Amino acid sequence: MRIQVAVDPVALDDDLVIAGDNAGVLERLPEGVFDLIYMDPPFNTGRAQARRSLAVVADAAAGDRIGFGGRRYRSQLLRTLAYDDAFDDYLAFLEVRLRRARDLLAAHGTLYFHIDYREAHYVKLLLDEVFGRDAFLNELIWSYDYGAKPRRRWPAKHDTILVYVRTPGGHFFDADAVEREPYMAPGLVSAEKAARGKRPTDVWFHTIVPTNGREKTGYPTQKPEGVLRRMVAASSRPGGWCLDPFAGSGTLGAVCRALGRRFVLVDRNPVAIEVMRSRLASGLTAEARGPAGQTALPLAGDG
Ligand SMILES: C[S@@+](CC[C@H](N)C(=O)[O-])C[C@H]1O[C@@H](n2cnc3c(N)ncnc32)[C@H](O)[C@@H]1O
Repeated sequence: MRIQVAVDPVALDDDLVIAGDNAGVLERLPEGVFDLIYMDPPFNTGRAQARRSLAVVADAAAGDRIGFGGRRYRSQLLRTLAYDDAFDDYLAFLEVRLRRARDLLAAHGTLYFHIDYREAHYVKLLLDEVFGRDAFLNELIWSYDYGAKPRRRWPAKHDTILVYVRTPGGHFFDADAVEREPYMAPGLVSAEKAARGKRPTDVWFHTIVPTNGREKTGYPTQKPEGVLRRMVAASSRPGGWCLDPFAGSGTLGAVCRALGRRFVLVDRNPVAIEVMRSRLASGLTAEARGPAGQTALPLAGDG
């Protein structure tokens, strides 16, 4: 593995951790190479004034909504009107990176976009625009159970992962490579089936990174290896290249290491680069390092 700043162009001759703004780094990566791109950007939290709207415009040829009298319309996401947090326009920030990510995917490649419930619907419309509606593969729900539970509404305990493919119908997907999980009602299936477990659906129950587990790096937004392992196992080939432009603690790299994939990890935060350096230096995932990782899928809904 090599740690570097972005050079022009970036050569994929080793697993890479690249320090820098991903907009510039993505421009320097070769196109059409990546089996899988995982994006887990900072959620657009903390702003009070974000306002967005949809416009519906007549489009007889490409409209995806049928209106009165059979007329076809296309919905168009209007940009954010005002923001008071770090991003002037969150969707514009994402759009330039998503367009480039699409170019970087191999023809059989897949994008996993991790987002929280407050933004998921806006980002889905943006992804429809960038990839095309027919490239939408799945909406995954990662359900966890941790932290405070408000009493005046249903506690929000899930993230959304939107999955889009580069080529509709032409994507790589190995369902058999994914770890199976227990049936919710094993008594309803044969003993043989119950013992084998079932293939996961689009709702994934998985704990957050345990606070005292070996997997924990201390990076605040670290995601569990078990969640990313499913994506990598299903949507990348052994030896295939995977990319994480918002790499944080390097979870994608740790999973790629364990599953025999190549990786490129990008982050602009020097702390993230240091965390990745020490996490990936050993070449082992938390699970490989010892039995107390507590990350193995599945963890049935524990709420
Ligand atoms: C939600 S965290 C990712 C966490 C990661 N999935 C993990 O498991 O540790 C988002 C990361 O994106 C990085 N980031 C934000 N904007 C960036 C940019 N423009 N270029 C590169 N990295 C960026 C932040 O520094 C942060 O580490």
